[in-house]
Amino acid sequence: MIITVAHSKGGVGKSLLSWHLAIALKVPIVDLDFQKTLVYTNNIRIANKHKSLEIIHPASVSEFIGLFDSWEDDKNIIIDVGGFDSNMNRMALYVSDLVITPAVDRITEIAGLSKFHQIITELSDKMQVDIKAHVLLNDVNPIAKDFSVMEDLIDNYEHFELMNTIVAHRADFFKTMEEGLGVTELDKGKAKKELKKLVKEIKNIGKENG
Ligand SMILES: Nc1ncnc2c1ncn2[C@@H]1O[C@H](COP(=O)(O)OP(=O)(O)OP(=O)(O)O)[C@@H](O)[C@H]1O
Ligand SMILES: [Mg+2]
Repeated sequence: MIITVAHSKGGVGKSLLSWHLAIALKVPIVDLDFQKTLVYTNNIRIANKHKSLEIIHPASVSEFIGLFDSWEDDKNIIIDVGGFDSNMNRMALYVSDLVITPAVDRITEIAGLSKFHQIITELSDKMQVDIKAHVLLNDVNPIAKDFSVMEDLIDNYEHFELMNTIVAHRADFFKTMEEGLGVTELDKGKAKKELKKLVKEIKNIGKENG
């Protein structure tokens, strides 16, 4: 399954979630962001004597497409898309089996989500496919309980579907990265629980999609 973490807006947690998911699933990451943040985190991981993560940086759209030419369904990979619109990022949305779109539960986020939805709509029309993005509420206030405003909003978008898992703002998510670790490598904690729930939901979506 090709899992793409994408949003045309920056700073929503794409790289953070890609990192923790890749470690939890023990799969490579294709990093489409020229900032290469994850390489830095991976170097800390290597320096701390943990098993290195495989990070792939395709140099061109054709090299990127080549990676997925004859992709076997049972092989998993994560694509971390940069927070901007580009041909390569659109291609990632097109080739993926599952698109996860992190979003904060703030009404001010809706402009960014609208823009991203427009990109998906254009792409779906152009490629004659129905691309769905699974919106994941991320970095939310740990004491928040009511997400009805976001639920209602997401409901209005044909190409969006809200995920059941909710990921809160937790220090474990960035502190582990500073040590080159994934939250699933911790003994316990709420961040680990949330990430495991996310993995479970991803696997279920994979099964439903056959
Ligand atoms: N659940 C979370 N808990 C704590 N911090 C978080 C969480 N999600 C994201 N952050 C923080 O938010 C910031 C932005 O995250 P990240 O770099 O992953 O975003 P991004 O979408 O990849 O951005 P860009 O589009 O620029 O690549 C980081 O400082 C990250 O540590
Ligand atoms: Mg990023």
